[in-house]
Amino acid sequence: MRETVRIIVTTYFTSGFGTTERELKLDDLPVRGTLPTWLRGTLIRNGPGTFQVGQQRYRHWFDGLAMLHRFAFHNGRVSYANKFLESRAYDAAQANGRISYSEFATDPCRSLFGRVATVFSPKLTDSAKVNIARIAQKYMALAETPIQVEFDPETLKSVGVFSYEPKTFGSMTTVHPHVEGDSAYNMVTRYNAISHYRFYRLKSNAAPELLAERPSREPGYLHSFGMSQNYFVLAEFPLVVNPVSLLLWLRPYIENFAWKPRRGASFSVIERRTGRLAGRFQADPFFAFHHVNAVEQGDELLVDLVGYDDASIIQHYYLQRLADPTIELPWGTLRRYRLPLRKRRGRVQGETLADACMELPRFDYERLNMRPYRYIYAVGVQPGQRQGFYNQLVKVDAASGKSWAWHEPDCFPGEGVFVGAPDRQAEDEGVVLSVVLNAAKGTSFLLALDAQTFSERARAELPHNVLFGYHGEFFSQQ
Ligand SMILES: [Fe+2]
Repeated sequence: MRETVRIIVTTYFTSGFGTTERELKLDDLPVRGTLPTWLRGTLIRNGPGTFQVGQQRYRHWFDGLAMLHRFAFHNGRVSYANKFLESRAYDAAQANGRISYSEFATDPCRSLFGRVATVFSPKLTDSAKVNIARIAQKYMALAETPIQVEFDPETLKSVGVFSYEPKTFGSMTTVHPHVEGDSAYNMVTRYNAISHYRFYRLKSNAAPELLAERPSREPGYLHSFGMSQNYFVLAEFPLVVNPVSLLLWLRPYIENFAWKPRRGASFSVIERRTGRLAGRFQADPFFAFHHVNAVEQGDELLVDLVGYDDASIIQHYYLQRLADPTIELPWGTLRRYRLPLRKRRGRVQGETLADACMELPRFDYERLNMRPYRYIYAVGVQPGQRQGFYNQLVKVDAASGKSWAWHEPDCFPGEGVFVGAPDRQAEDEGVVLSVVLNAAKGTSFLLALDAQTFSERARAELPHNVLFGYHGEFFSQQ
């Protein structure tokens, strides 16, 4: 029995954290089942296309060279293409046959000379592999490094780069901008003796507009932020960095951060209109990658996120650990913090809304961002099969805590992207699209679940494996 587990886990590790060897362009994937006729548009997914350059392996799930995957839906049919994102990091890796730029947890090898060069001008990756967004009419591949790559959604070719600030060294950004109307909002952390969190608005044909900033002596690692109708929500966890260590750069980016639970966690609530601090609330220490939604309700601001008791999840995503068949990932769960806006200060407690393990959360952002909502879709771990990587998709009802799951033997799903039916009456009328790795076959497929019943509607088989990626976006063509 133990051997069986080891073989399956080893297989998922090989095909999920190895390489996607080929760049393909396929007009028609074989589809089993029926896709809804209203599903017209393109799902573009981002993630690593390889965890290896020459003989060198990257060290962490958040490393690697970006690859875009494009699924186009029309009349129940699906076309597919995948392509490495063109970038200096990719070009250098191709030319040198070795890792040449610093990633989340991997630095290039340092010769004595190279080390000096790295200290004063870190070659941060521009291989923007984490998310996809349409910002100010442009399709962007997003990374935490401040260089975002614009690409053509038809050909997947890079067409330019974008940065929030003229100076591209010394800052990081989140890969989860918020979109409202024709504006996008994002937060940049600029590291300095006194660092600053800076909130920007982007509009097409206009320079980024600085709306608010908050100082910090020891800034935190922040992967996303909250935004409600009137406020930005800056949730700071006690995984913090002394900016001097980023300047010295003696170790890869994330390894400069330290977990300091005695600091606790905090929520800063910032007025979007004026940039003023409207409230600051303390909480017991916790960690999160992902905010889900932020909703103003009466005198309260409800902040929903996928929370962990500490930041050990980052350690668990090192490839050396993921290769261990006995690994059990820490469970993130849906938490709600109720911030009492009138009080402006005080302590708040998180409330766990559902027991299900969740990560990479999605909901009907298009209609319900900043509004009351119920349903969240995510990857998770089966309670009865905790060893290994994320092995199911879940749907959680934030109102009741009830959850639904989809899983299949040997299958490891990626982020489930909700696409709502255009004329939907119910919140969950639509499909959830996920790229699933079948570890037994060593290939992936595009799965479409009915979002209401959480059962399979259709799947489109790919002739190769897609590595475990992070985020994607569906762009509708109605
Ligand atoms: Fe993310």
